[in-house]
Amino acid sequence: MNCYLVTGGAGFIGANFVKYLLKKHTDIQIVVLDSLTYAGNLGTIKDDLNDARLTFVKGDVKDREVVTSVFEKYPLNFVVNFAAESHVDRSIENPQVFLETNILGTQNILDVAKKYWTTGKDAKGYPTYKEGVKYLQVSTDEVYGSLGETGYFTETTPLDPRSPYSASKTGADLIVKAYGETYKMPINITRCSNNYGPYHFPEKLIPLIIKNILEGKKLPVYGDGSNVRDWLFVEDHCKAIDAVVLKGRAGEVYNVGGHNEKKNIEIVKLTISTIQQLMKENPAYQSVLKTSLDNINENLITYVTDRLGHDQRYAIDPTKITGELGWYPETKFEVGIEKTIRWYLENQAWVEEVTSGDYQKYYEQMYGNR
Ligand code: NAD
Ligand code: DAU
Repeated sequence: MNCYLVTGGAGFIGANFVKYLLKKHTDIQIVVLDSLTYAGNLGTIKDDLNDARLTFVKGDVKDREVVTSVFEKYPLNFVVNFAAESHVDRSIENPQVFLETNILGTQNILDVAKKYWTTGKDAKGYPTYKEGVKYLQVSTDEVYGSLGETGYFTETTPLDPRSPYSASKTGADLIVKAYGETYKMPINITRCSNNYGPYHFPEKLIPLIIKNILEGKKLPVYGDGSNVRDWLFVEDHCKAIDAVVLKGRAGEVYNVGGHNEKKNIEIVKLTISTIQQLMKENPAYQSVLKTSLDNINENLITYVTDRLGHDQRYAIDPTKITGELGWYPETKFEVGIEKTIRWYLENQAWVEEVTSGDYQKYYEQMYGNR
């Protein structure tokens, strides 16, 4: 039986991954370790916690005692590290916590995992490990920097992070790689493009736009809206991680991408038109509106001051993971965005729950000038 430590499992992708694992595998044990920052919400996995195969531990990945205690208590053989500060805009305002969580947190987990998984030493002095253990670092395409109009990121593209967030994720990747090289620890790194789907915290572009449209609020588009992201439905990302944990070659990096480049302004316009269409097809959805349906149109779009150092374009070449592990992005964007919008229309209670704390105050402080 595989026993997973899923750090950051109360966040957007981590929670989707937990739900995916519980559905896909029967003989499995999962421990979620999450400190429940503003981006983590226990309510997201509340129902899943009725399943005896899932356990939740509240704790910080930087805390040696907490991480040690979960390794002590559970026979963990896989670690999937999602725990991170994940929002680029926040990293521009306050870089320090990004370095602390993303780099030092990663190193702390690696160190404890190494200690618990080591069985001895080989003739050259390298540690030897228990059978079937692996540490997977969930990384991002942002470590490669920014592309011009053409080209794709491959696993050999030089690392060139440009924001405090991406610099911290690159630092984390390098320390993971160092544990793989220096101690021969079985590791993988996955580098994924922008995810979207259910349980996405409404500070990121797509869920923020959906929330604002339903409330009849302005839709802030940074700069001229021409920046390109390569969107991937979150369940496709979960499938990729599952494949890499189980079948990825130790020591390897795998890029994961949706083959789905869109300009931000296209995303915003498509979200508006999809919501209009869903409201007309199913008038019951109109009950969630805090504005009149007539107000939902492109007049809500507002071009605002650009993000500092805003990366122009990301695009992933996923040839390696497709060739080696048979993974490919299954969900077409038009299908995924409609599923996502329907989910938000039907789960407004979740949105209210995750935005009930400091969300409004923080949002006004951060974006008040836009
Ligand atoms: P998220 O912000 O929604 O969730 C992060 C989770 O980590 C939260 O539950 C939070 O409480 C937890 N956390 C934060 N600091 C912690 C700490 N010190 N100790 C324990 N838990 C802590 O992030 P997400 O969008 O789900 O991203 C998950 C991972 O995937 C991150 O590592 C991110 O860099 C990476 N990633 C995200 C995307 C994307 O599009 N969202 C794309 C590629 C890679
Ligand atoms: O590429 C993977 C990365 O995708 C992940 O590593 C990050 O954790 C994740 O947050 C995401 O980063 P982005 O910066 O691309 O995502 P965000 O949703 O913040 O922004 C998407 C694009 O939309 C970006 O070009 C900035 C723009 N934007 C964003 C917001 C929040 C706007 O124009 N207006 C907005 O209000």
